[in-house]
Amino acid sequence: MAWKRKMLFWMAYLTGKAPWDTGVTPPEVIRLVQSGELTPGCAVDLGCGTGLNAIFLIRHGWQVVGVDSEPIAIRRARRRAAQEVPALRQQACFMVADVTDWRWAGIRYDLALDIGCLHSLTPAEQQSYAMYLTRYTKPGAHFLLYARGAQRLNGDAASFGLDQPQVEALLAPAWQSLWVQRGQEGAHASAWYLFKRDDT
Ligand SMILES: C[S@@+](CC[C@H](N)C(=O)[O-])C[C@H]1O[C@@H](n2cnc3c(N)ncnc32)[C@H](O)[C@@H]1O
Repeated sequence: MAWKRKMLFWMAYLTGKAPWDTGVTPPEVIRLVQSGELTPGCAVDLGCGTGLNAIFLIRHGWQVVGVDSEPIAIRRARRRAAQEVPALRQQACFMVADVTDWRWAGIRYDLALDIGCLHSLTPAEQQSYAMYLTRYTKPGAHFLLYARGAQRLNGDAASFGLDQPQVEALLAPAWQSLWVQRGQEGAHASAWYLFKRDDT
């Protein structure tokens, strides 16, 4: 299944038909960043796609590492940063890398952002991701996550997506939920989550 999903992401970027690549930063990201609740520091965008949200963070004073397994997406993210924030390019680093194996991570982050990546991983990959997320974030760090709810694909029970109890179990005990906003993506349930590392 993991390779099939990889193919789907690759095809989506290759053909320019990536429905998530809307060019619009989600209001949840805008609200959090502009709320003043977070002091800009080092952020990581996990499954950053073409870099839109990482660049939004950069414009707001963050130093950002954007990570995605798709080279096409990372090339576009680098080009976007060069075009849109040329003066701030040193604040951006986009790399082709795997969110389930953070050997690329050299520092600990103040903020992790994941818009639509974690929910596409297999359960074993999610466990690995969560372990690294905790290892490479600072105590007191925030984690903003967008995930679709669990759904069946081709009769494969819960083969895609994550429900709130699964997200919370994955991140326990290090991460405390600050809020959850439930929504709908087409026919599917979805939610935004904000967590804080509370194991200081
Ligand atoms: C639904 S897209 C969202 C992209 C971006 N966050 C956005 O909102 O435009 C999910 C992204 O996660 C990436 N991805 C999936 N599995 C990954 C993995 N194991 N490591 C790194 N990136 C991954 C995909 O290539 C894709 O760009």
